[in-house]
Amino acid sequence: MSNLSALERQRSIYLSGVGGQRPPIPTDLEALEEAARGHTSRSAFAYIAGGAGRGETIRTNREDFSHWRIQPRMLRDVSQADMKTELFGSTLPAPLLLAPVGVLDMVHSEADLAVARACEATGIPYIYSNQASVPMEDTAAAMPNTAKWFQLYWSKSNDLVASLVQRAEACGCSAITVTLDTTMLGWRIEDLDQAYLPFLRARGIAQYTSDPVFQRLVEEYQDDPDTPQPKRRLSLSLLKSVYTMMRTYPGSFWGNLRSGRPMKAVRTFVQTYTNPALNWDQLSFLREHTSLPIILKGILHPDDALRAVDAGMDGLIVSNHGGRQVDGALSSIEALPRIVEAVGPDVTLLLDSGVRSGADMYKALALGASAVCIGRPYAYALAIAGQTGVEAVIRNLLADFELTMRLSGKRSIAEVKDDFLIPRS
Ligand SMILES: Cc1cc2nc3c(=O)[nH]c(=O)nc-3n(C[C@H](O)[C@H](O)[C@H](O)COP(=O)(O)O)c2cc1C
Repeated sequence: MSNLSALERQRSIYLSGVGGQRPPIPTDLEALEEAARGHTSRSAFAYIAGGAGRGETIRTNREDFSHWRIQPRMLRDVSQADMKTELFGSTLPAPLLLAPVGVLDMVHSEADLAVARACEATGIPYIYSNQASVPMEDTAAAMPNTAKWFQLYWSKSNDLVASLVQRAEACGCSAITVTLDTTMLGWRIEDLDQAYLPFLRARGIAQYTSDPVFQRLVEEYQDDPDTPQPKRRLSLSLLKSVYTMMRTYPGSFWGNLRSGRPMKAVRTFVQTYTNPALNWDQLSFLREHTSLPIILKGILHPDDALRAVDAGMDGLIVSNHGGRQVDGALSSIEALPRIVEAVGPDVTLLLDSGVRSGADMYKALALGASAVCIGRPYAYALAIAGQTGVEAVIRNLLADFELTMRLSGKRSIAEVKDDFLIPRS
């Protein structure tokens, strides 16, 4: 892992400027969205930037960080500062992880591998998406020295759940994150207007197609007689979709075309991948199948947080999925203090959704989170500049955070966590 010092980061950017070199990506994480637009197809951009309904939750996620103010303290010798963070028995270089983001091959051919290399270069953990473009074993091989977690979508097949968890353990993941808020896809207007869902083109299903249990399910697949397959007219779009599917699916293009297996795999996926019947009782199944810490992602209500603790879960990610699931939901940063009040300081809480600056990180920590995750910013950076872009996002955010810490008079994460924020009057 290379040095994450803020002053060095600042210095290297300004010095490069003397030679006429600008940073590879905009320094403002919010500005990345517009910058990425020209580097992605319309449908890929819509898939990443979009949210549930009319986007109110996305806006609230940002606005609510402004509800809190940091009150900097002076003359505290901040010549040194340490961002090291303890999380589930491991020491991280900083309180930051990359959130699981699916289908990254839509924006860059190296997809998850480029992100993994950026994590390896910075020491920042990567949470592998259940909807990744690259099987977890390959991604893990690209970051042998850096912490990795696996994010699970609980499908209709418990055998598949067990198999994915077992693979995650085998490839060195140190925690399992279960995403609870996506037992169905939200009403995503941007994607609906493009009539675009990547999974139907065999994109973002690499964890499934590389799984022995899923392959068995493909063999056993039968069309659901109650859901007739739509008749499709031959068109350029259809040919393009079939081409993408054949190319994306493991194996040779012509072999896939002959066997029709990709089509069958997509149908199997559609039949199994969400599980609206998921409930609290099922968590014990996971507990029986792994000794890794289990972290529930998507908690917003204090009662759910308490229930998770009762169920023996090891941690929570306070998250509204970046505003992609429920329009008009409360922001993660608004939910956090109530959850801390309910579960107390000993339960490990992470936060994502709307984190875009060092100040946001600081506020989340001061309000009780142990670490934060970012989603869209690194996906945009990947689109713009591949691994270099993702690395730059991590380094910029951490430099911003470190300076926010030191300029507020804090030398350690413990001191940030002990700070009190001032609510805006
Ligand atoms: C394009 C995209 C794909 C995502 N895919 C997943 C996923 O596969 N699993 C998951 O748990 N969360 C997924 N998320 C949600 C992120 O993990 C995270 O909760 C969210 O992006 C955080 O908000 P932010 O984008 O404002 O940083 C996805 C988010 C985006 C934008």
